[in-house]
Amino acid sequence: MNKVVVSPAKVFSLNISEIAPDKSISHRSVMFSMLSNGVSEIENFLRAEDTLNSLKIIKNLGAEVEDNGKTIKISSNGIQESFEILDCGNSGTGMRLFCGLLSSAKGHFILTGDKYLRGRPMKRVTAPLISIGAKIDGRENGDLAPLSIRGASLKAFDYKSQIASAQVKSCMILAALHADGVCTYTEPELSRDHTERMLKGMGADIKVNGLKTTINPLKNLLTPLKIRVPADPSSAFFFAVAAAITPDSNVILEGVTLNPTRIEAFKALERMGADISYELLEDKYEPVGNIHVKYAPLHAILVENNISWLIDELPALSIAMACAKGESLVKNAKELRVKESDRITTVVQGLQSCGIHVDEYEDGYKIIGSTLKKAKVDSGGDHRIAMSFIIAGLKCGMEVRDLECINTSFPNFFELLKKITTIEIS
Ligand code: S3P
Repeated sequence: MNKVVVSPAKVFSLNISEIAPDKSISHRSVMFSMLSNGVSEIENFLRAEDTLNSLKIIKNLGAEVEDNGKTIKISSNGIQESFEILDCGNSGTGMRLFCGLLSSAKGHFILTGDKYLRGRPMKRVTAPLISIGAKIDGRENGDLAPLSIRGASLKAFDYKSQIASAQVKSCMILAALHADGVCTYTEPELSRDHTERMLKGMGADIKVNGLKTTINPLKNLLTPLKIRVPADPSSAFFFAVAAAITPDSNVILEGVTLNPTRIEAFKALERMGADISYELLEDKYEPVGNIHVKYAPLHAILVENNISWLIDELPALSIAMACAKGESLVKNAKELRVKESDRITTVVQGLQSCGIHVDEYEDGYKIIGSTLKKAKVDSGGDHRIAMSFIIAGLKCGMEVRDLECINTSFPNFFELLKKITTIEIS
């Protein structure tokens, strides 16, 4: 699967119940099962490369996993030293959260990843962990994987993070559970909060007050998780953009998490003029429901706040901006440069090759909406870039190369896309 040629879409009206399960919640569900005293049960786990790597890693760390293809049952006797190198593949979430989980575990562990992950910054987690006593090293003074971790005693901390990152926050919360006293973690803007919700649901003593999270070390093992992973709003968003840019079309995205830290991109698309409504169906660890999206003519917007709530969706939102009337501006989004690709450069170059006027800045870009033209775009190994430009193809036709990365988060993406248009994969 090297390249896809996408044809423009005709009008569509769809209900989609098979959006990929949430990646963030899937990673956490298997990792947190290691902290419990019983059998955790996970339904609708995301069977994509990133999260299957996390599942494999917890098996290497001694978890017993029973999988009937529908429900995954996990029990653990605590983290065991692994004979294997722990390979997180393409996943920054996997690597950063495992750093927190393993920094106090008994034994020595090596975390590695693919060539993209081995180039992404890890100091944001290794530095605060080392400052509380963790023994971690890696290339560039602990900034780049492979990382070596020798479990150690961790000191309590009051950490003020400069980055609004759920990966950093989650890493430090996991470390805090085994520190020698009460810890606090403060972030500059609220990042996604699945870790806090899920660990609290399992009985951890965690209090959230605005941007400050207070974590009490674990006195006992946690109660097992019983969770059905909702659909991933970041994956669902590709089909929201598809409906928003295709005249007279609409889509209902079923069973998606409606966690406010995850649906900001839908709110941004609403601000652009799309007709969007939300239908809450249940609320256990997370609010879950359906999102209805209808086409309407789009206009430009400014995006400068809550960037961490948009970090995975900005590439797809940029396609909507390219189709909208006027000049859209994205600011304060420097974090985009250290995701699966430098997403500022990949978005800017991709849109420019589609004939769109885009200006690049250090922390974002300006897009002048007009008519997209068919082009050849390379994903740069970034799943969100690949899927965003494929969705752009629904407007004008497109050839997108380097597609394997889509399997990291949304293995059935093409199956769903075929409900809207014709594609040729080679
Ligand atoms: C994630 C957090 C985000 C996001 C990533 C998943 C998570 O990264 O981009 O895809 O599951 O915690 P940052 O927290 O580093 O922004």
